[in-house]
Amino acid sequence: MYNVAIVGATGAVGEEFLRVLEEYDFPIKKLVPLASARSVGKEVEFRGESLKVKELTCDVFKEEEIDIAFFSAGGSVSAKFAPCAVEAGAVVIDNTSHFRMDPDVPLVVPEVNPDDIALWNKKGIIANPNCSTIQMVISLAPLHREFNIKRVDVATYQAVSGAGKKGMEELFEQMRAIFNFKLDKKVEEREVFQYQIALNVIPHIDKFMDGGWSREELKMVNETNKIMHSKIKVAATCVRVPVLRSHSEAISIYCEKPVNVERAREVLANFQDVKVIDNPEKNEYPMPIIATDTDYVYVGRIRKDLYDDNVLHFFNVADQLRVGAATNAVRIGLKWIEMEGEAFLKGKYGK
Ligand code: A2P
Repeated sequence: MYNVAIVGATGAVGEEFLRVLEEYDFPIKKLVPLASARSVGKEVEFRGESLKVKELTCDVFKEEEIDIAFFSAGGSVSAKFAPCAVEAGAVVIDNTSHFRMDPDVPLVVPEVNPDDIALWNKKGIIANPNCSTIQMVISLAPLHREFNIKRVDVATYQAVSGAGKKGMEELFEQMRAIFNFKLDKKVEEREVFQYQIALNVIPHIDKFMDGGWSREELKMVNETNKIMHSKIKVAATCVRVPVLRSHSEAISIYCEKPVNVERAREVLANFQDVKVIDNPEKNEYPMPIIATDTDYVYVGRIRKDLYDDNVLHFFNVADQLRVGAATNAVRIGLKWIEMEGEAFLKGKYGK
């Protein structure tokens, strides 16, 4: 059993962590919810109990004898406090982008590259990939094994939950204003997105970098290849849409071998945590309202290119707060316990 901290416990992902840890029956001796000084005194619910939120400080990990720390409070918070947690003898599972491309930090999607967890001890940190990348690689992995993917073109339809609780509230407030015919006032009050998000789509997530690519788009390029140990060419267009908490992706794969739709459906359906919904004749395909609050990547609209036998197109959807964040991190934690837990406890507590 482990002492577990959630850093960012009052946030959108933090709240999901509490639910997922409970649902997965994570072996917790003590759970410590941490957030900024603003949240001290707030309470969160875990396994039917109210737990008081504590302030994140460098010392809290030692004071609370934390073994596993899930971080989801932004990159700068991880940069500053993850080393404190490691110093205090904890393994950090970090949901931010801060350590993802560090060669000494494994970047893990347990369905795809669980063995990379063995490298955790280089820095004491395991990184949880970007949400859009997680759901994409879960659907790419079985197809890559079958058809050998050389290139991926992807356009995302990303929910506002990716911008945290404030992003969800901004969409909600704007929608409410629309129904009250008061949109102008609320548009002026927007804080999170570059433009009004209600009844709009915004082809801009994270900062723009060289060549007109956004940072979010480059995360999908670099993280995909780190996770899959591949050199796949990836071109992403990341778009924010007025959906609350499930991301969708239209994906085209260019393969070395000719593709086959039936075989693609079969290998996807047999892959861990994937559900194929692909009956166009019955109007059945994946959508955010199907994926929300579940732990699966839904894949459908699978079809062969009209011109090229080696190209396959499909659509995938997954809950951003769960598959794209909390659930993936909890699955990393469980896999780490299975692979390393006994040796860790023996080394730390001598038992
Ligand atoms: P707080 O609620 O005290 O601000 P979201 O991604 O939904 O916006 O949530 C961000 C989470 O990260 C919240 O739990 C927030 O706590 C926490 N957080 C943000 N900045 C800090 C900080 N400097 N120190 C500790 N926790 C932080």
